[in-house]
Amino acid sequence: MYTKNTDELTREYFDSIMVVPRYLDGDIPDTSIELFGKKYNTPVMTAALSHLHNTVDNGMCEYAKGALMAHALHFVGMSEDDEFDEIAAVGADTVKIVKPHSDESVIFTKIERAVKAGAVAVGMDIDHSISSHGTYDNVLGLPMEPKTTEQIKSYVKAAGVPFIVKGVLSTEDAYKCAEAGATGIIVSHHHGIMDSMVPPLYMLPEIKKAVGDSLKIIVDCGFESGMDVYKALALGADGVGIGRALMGPLKGGGEAVYKRIEEINGELKTVMARTGFKSVKDIDSSALRFRTF
Ligand SMILES: Cc1cc2nc3c(=O)[nH]c(=O)nc-3n(C[C@H](O)[C@H](O)[C@H](O)COP(=O)(O)O)c2cc1C
Repeated sequence: MYTKNTDELTREYFDSIMVVPRYLDGDIPDTSIELFGKKYNTPVMTAALSHLHNTVDNGMCEYAKGALMAHALHFVGMSEDDEFDEIAAVGADTVKIVKPHSDESVIFTKIERAVKAGAVAVGMDIDHSISSHGTYDNVLGLPMEPKTTEQIKSYVKAAGVPFIVKGVLSTEDAYKCAEAGATGIIVSHHHGIMDSMVPPLYMLPEIKKAVGDSLKIIVDCGFESGMDVYKALALGADGVGIGRALMGPLKGGGEAVYKRIEEINGELKTVMARTGFKSVKDIDSSALRFRTF
């Protein structure tokens, strides 16, 4: 069966969007944002990664240090509970993304432990429930299962801190997340978990229109530059997660991650300044044009 690689489709879509420069009455912008009642220097966030000891010694904590230095919101994926304690102790504002374990007690324990360790929010990557063989997923020997809206409601209630559903790529799931009382969603295809999946930026305007301001919208997958980040903000995102593009810098430790986030934020500032936006909340799609030639 021929299918199209989702990461390639996503890059093609980023590159099909162009920007119109506007200079008069412009200035250097402020890229700070407010999310969950806290202020961050940048809408760039560290995407939920895991197993970063394979990239560099103490990789998960180094990654967190990068976010701390950049004063950016930090996300953590799969982790042992003790490991999460160590990551949270680095001091970045941290969001723990729990996997959709079929054992509900594992989920509630992980939520409780993360909140106890100081997580500013928790969430779940609902897209890791199905394997590529038409069965429920199994991650490193741990069984997963698809979750219901009612189950999400129960996690929201147990968390007591903002709850974020990761892996939303449809208006249907976005509505259900709002109904379940989630605070936000991460619009994501989980680095192409299946071929031929729609690029997150393609879906953003539809999802934003569907949920309005009822959910905070973060987006990830394939972001490499401040220009990419700008396009997502212009299409309705409140923040952008960057994962793989920070893994190269991570080999140089947390400080190198910080420097790359700063560079990306500088690129974002340039595009904002050249399109006439002075703050992140002002950015809209008025300077975007979609390539048809
Ligand atoms: C090494 C690695 C580990 C990841 N682990 C997790 C995880 O445990 N939980 C999760 O929700 N997403 C995980 N992801 C997916 C990322 O959060 C993100 O959705 C994806 O990589 C797309 O963003 P990117 O293109 O900026 O990397 C992982 C990605 C990578 C590359």
